[in-house]
Amino acid sequence: MNIAINSRKKAYAPYSKFSVGTAILLDNNEIIIGNNQENAAYPSGMCAERVAIYFAGANYPNNSILKIAISASSMFKEIDKPVAPCGACRQAISEYEIKQNKAIEIYFMGESGKIIMVNSLKELLPLGFDKSFLK
Ligand code: THU
Repeated sequence: MNIAINSRKKAYAPYSKFSVGTAILLDNNEIIIGNNQENAAYPSGMCAERVAIYFAGANYPNNSILKIAISASSMFKEIDKPVAPCGACRQAISEYEIKQNKAIEIYFMGESGKIIMVNSLKELLPLGFDKSFLK
């Protein structure tokens, strides 16, 4: 979580002024960081979690993701409640949990206050859509 917090401080979020940082621990002990990257064309921006998990998928395709830590803060108010990943990021994390056939622990917080931990992405995305529907 400390690495996620440091990563959050490097977010590029000039439009929302809402910064998110992520740290991913792989089974080879590498830690991948990500933070949100916004764009003047708003939908072209990307969440911290997907920046990190796609980097992990691109660079370490054969390693499992053990844990993901997430921290969020806002320039407008102190976020003292845990900030859970958005729906699109849950779907992205789900893909990798299924790919590696091993649950990913997810820890999330705001800027201060408590950390929530779930043992698997499935706890955040019940009844998810996955490859079993495709063929
Ligand atoms: N954001 C994330 O990085 N992760 C989330 O799970 C929720 C939202 C970013 C996207 C955008 O840059 C800003 O937070 C405000 O929505």
